Amino acid sequence: MNILAIETSCDDTGVAILKCDKKNCQLLSNVISSQIELHAPYGGVVPNLAARAHLENIQLCLNSALKEADNCKIDLIAVTVGPGLIPSLQIGVNFAKSLAYAWQKPIIGINHIKGHIYANWLTDNNIIFPALCLIISGGHTQLALMTGYDQYELIGQTRDDAAGEAFDKVAKLLGLGYPGGPILSQRAQKGNSEKFKLPRPMINEHNFDFSFSGLKTAVLYEIKKTGSLIKPETDNYINDMSASFQQAVIDVLIHKTLKAAEKYKIKNIMLSGGVAANQELRRQISKVMKEKLPETKLRIPETKFCTDNAAMIAAAACFSDKREHWSEIIANANLKF
Ligand code: KG4
Ligand code: ZN
Repeated sequence: MNILAIETSCDDTGVAILKCDKKNCQLLSNVISSQIELHAPYGGVVPNLAARAHLENIQLCLNSALKEADNCKIDLIAVTVGPGLIPSLQIGVNFAKSLAYAWQKPIIGINHIKGHIYANWLTDNNIIFPALCLIISGGHTQLALMTGYDQYELIGQTRDDAAGEAFDKVAKLLGLGYPGGPILSQRAQKGNSEKFKLPRPMINEHNFDFSFSGLKTAVLYEIKKTGSLIKPETDNYINDMSASFQQAVIDVLIHKTLKAAEKYKIKNIMLSGGVAANQELRRQISKVMKEKLPETKLRIPETKFCTDNAAMIAAAACFSDKREHWSEIIANANLKF
């Protein structure tokens, strides 16, 4: 079965074609049109500009994806229906519905968060349940227990900011620009993670919830101590603060994930979402798991499948038996997990 997937939940226009059965996924094409340059001057994503850019790009992305996949026959259309920015979602959803109508193909609406989880299947199909998925994106930070395909239990989540949101906000405080997470993590490579003593919010609480807004405030207070209200002055300060902040986030994420893995006797731990592209997190969690949970296998998607892409939406569609009529597909900005 060849699945054509469309992803426009935020600022990346993605179109991918995946040839798959449940045992084997082969990516025939994966086209992404990034809008970083468009939004950078505003320091964040401007929803209406994002929607306009999706509209301009989506047909071009489709043409490239079909060409790369040798104009193969399409059996199913998959599209992200939420959560996300409604103007952006609506472009992808309406485009996908038009294709389903014109080509007379079945269509399936995919939850963006589930797409992030299924990104793990693009790299490795042998995931063993019960599995635990740490979803760390710009809008979500969740720990999901997976006991089978499409069988999830949310065991923890952030009570305020998402991990990626915290990276982006702290990057802004440090004057690092947009997109914050990747820039901050590059600066962190050159810094001393022990320079600033920042809190590890909720690390010792007996639950699997997270909180990152206090950590961001702690960074703000540290910056204010320098007497600078706009942004810190020196490169060394920025590098050290980036490294100290990043380490605080990593400590909490790893501690809670391993605790949950022990409690639920997890066979596989998966990472998903943009923050899973963070090299230091990837390195540290692999190391700690080898020492503390040698029997549990860690799965992390390739970095290009951690951030938003349409291949992960196709993978999620591959593992769902649901088929819908185009008229049933509706974008929902607040779609729940
Ligand atoms: O999953 P994603 O592409 O979009 C959402 O669904 O939100 O995640 C984007 C988030 C942003 O907050 C971005 O700053 C963060 O992922 N991110 C990173 C890195 N790359 C992307 N955060 C930390 N380190 C990175 N290398
Ligand atoms: Zn995402």
